Amino acid sequence: MHKFTRTLVTSALPYANGPVHLGHLAGVYLPADIYVRYKRLKGEDIIHIGGSDEHGVPITITAEKEGISPQDVVDRYHRMNQDAFSRCGISFDYYGRTSSEVHHKTAQEFFLDIEQKGIFQQKTEKLFFDRKAGRFLSDRYVTGTCPVCNNPEANGDQCEQCGTHLSPLELINPKSKLSDATPELRDTMHWYFPLGRFQEQLESYVQGHEDDWRSNVVNYTRTWLSQGLKERAITRDLSWGIKVPLEREEALGKVLYVWFDAVLGYISFTREWAAQRGESDLWKSYWQDPQCRLVHFIGKDNVVFHTLMFPAILLAWNEGRQRDLYNLADNVPASEFMNFEGRKFSKSRNYAVYLGEFLDKFPADTLRYSIAMNYPENKDTDFSWQDFQNRTNGELADTLGNFIKRSIDFSNARFDGEVPCDSTAEEWNALGIDWLDTLEKLDLAYEGFHFREAVSLGMDIARAANRFLTVSEPWKVIRIDREAAARTMALSLNLCHALSVALYPVIPETCNSIHAMLGFEGRIEDLVTSGKSLYTELLLPGLKKGDKIRAKSEILFTKIEDSDIAPELAKIAGLLAEAEKRDAGVAESRMEFKPGISFDDFLKVDLRVAKVIAAETVKKAGKLLKLQLQVGSVTKQVLAGIAKHYTPEEMVGKNVVLVANLAERSIRDEVSEGMILAVEGDDGRLYVVEPGGNEINGKQIQ
Ligand code: MF3
Ligand code: ZN
Repeated sequence: MHKFTRTLVTSALPYANGPVHLGHLAGVYLPADIYVRYKRLKGEDIIHIGGSDEHGVPITITAEKEGISPQDVVDRYHRMNQDAFSRCGISFDYYGRTSSEVHHKTAQEFFLDIEQKGIFQQKTEKLFFDRKAGRFLSDRYVTGTCPVCNNPEANGDQCEQCGTHLSPLELINPKSKLSDATPELRDTMHWYFPLGRFQEQLESYVQGHEDDWRSNVVNYTRTWLSQGLKERAITRDLSWGIKVPLEREEALGKVLYVWFDAVLGYISFTREWAAQRGESDLWKSYWQDPQCRLVHFIGKDNVVFHTLMFPAILLAWNEGRQRDLYNLADNVPASEFMNFEGRKFSKSRNYAVYLGEFLDKFPADTLRYSIAMNYPENKDTDFSWQDFQNRTNGELADTLGNFIKRSIDFSNARFDGEVPCDSTAEEWNALGIDWLDTLEKLDLAYEGFHFREAVSLGMDIARAANRFLTVSEPWKVIRIDREAAARTMALSLNLCHALSVALYPVIPETCNSIHAMLGFEGRIEDLVTSGKSLYTELLLPGLKKGDKIRAKSEILFTKIEDSDIAPELAKIAGLLAEAEKRDAGVAESRMEFKPGISFDDFLKVDLRVAKVIAAETVKKAGKLLKLQLQVGSVTKQVLAGIAKHYTPEEMVGKNVVLVANLAERSIRDEVSEGMILAVEGDDGRLYVVEPGGNEINGKQIQ
């Protein structure tokens, strides 16, 4: 095992194109913060870097829709998200933005380095161009009809209705979002990053982490590796983004692909953080010192960008260098998704609960606690208002809050607001909590990114503490044995202290309040930065006889009434109803396939290419055309129900597909020796399938 002396944590940079919602919080930011706070508590050297991803097409589309500049869009959401994170207690050491000058320079520096090494490939491809707007159209700027579900508003990269990934070239009736014009195809040159060149290095990198990475991360990555890594375009024809830093004609109007630049944001922001502290080289100790552990917190949709692309970019930089080598991530704890009330969060479908709005109504720690309890570590989880209410009332208020309040209030009322005596190690270990074991488990849970388990262990201590106080009944005992009651209260206050430490990573504000109620000066994080590890103090009672506590308890948690969440439930019901309506629409147009058949069954069907050599209408059968088909050296007669759609003259000379081994049938005294294939269009017309090609008559279709 590698010995690390420092840790650099990054959280995926949210697009500054909308407010972050609870799903983002659950998957990335809260777990990252819990991890970071835990390690700070242990006195470790760790920094947490995050920020806004401010490039990419969705941002320019929003800007155009609202008639403002992309800069206005990112300014708005950068501020909004930074503010929401800070109110939620997500303790970034630095929260940057990819529109910064330092970042532009960093990304360009990487591009140039790799370009000068001759690693990039240049390739020309066909791309839609909007003549009216005078611009190339990236995927998102093209809309059209989905070839799979016929949704008329599919995007060039994906159909939102059926979820199919598309390329703009697959859309039926493509239209430019800029002008509604039908775009034309033009040649454009782009730089490609040859991921395949790093295939072996990446394979051994991933191999080396198979045992410590989550299985979902290993699996996604392995799937990509097993398909063989291909080159990926890393430039785009856009005006918003980081310019390709070359003075050549071919670089004009090109910017770096948003993913190439975004991951490098982690580096830029660490540089900015260091500069802000006045130690401009300090960032290198986090990126280029092998003793620093690099951890990326992300959602599962970002895995390969962090396990393959970003490492490949860093490997390309490292190539041929003796110094200034970048570390690759030691771990990439990618989360599954947390759903809400049984459904996936979706910004584009307006199904979300936004972090800032949530915090306008309920305190951050209640949210942090409930979400940590629903952390989607290995599988998708579901969060609901009911769950939030139950946990807040039953676990935080009735168990934790109640215990703290009773301990502080009774000590104030009957023991002059002091710790009445020292507690012994024997008493501490007789509380029904195996401290050594608990600490070990907590440590494994926090260090291993098992955050649900960590919070549960913390709450177990609260339950044991609450039980201890209830069973000891100091309010009764004090009448006959003041000393026994004193011992109970000393232990209770020590338990308050232990809880303030054990739960600090998850509910830091609450734990700081407990800390203050116990009479400590300053905040927990300040004690920690002074180099003291609070964590190991749990092993022994930390308070001494005579230590003053604060004269009044604070209310830590207010219970959530049904009436508090009623409007939220109503809102969700509305969103759900809308979503269901949309889903019904999708179901209607979704492909319904016939029951499966075996390959052998399929092979029984003899499909042949045939040519129509004669055609006539059939008397008294207005729908039918009688066709004479040339199939290789054979002629066959087929009756086809296409008379309303084709005249006999139109049919003659066409190539058609014939089901050649269909049992003979007679219709209106005429025999039909097969069937030809046709398809019904949305307009209700039948279109005969017409294969094209050379020398295909009579050939079997396979
Ligand atoms: N903005 C991207 C998203 O929200 C994530 C970027 S993560 C980074 O999916 F590594 F590229 F920054
Ligand atoms: Zn579709």
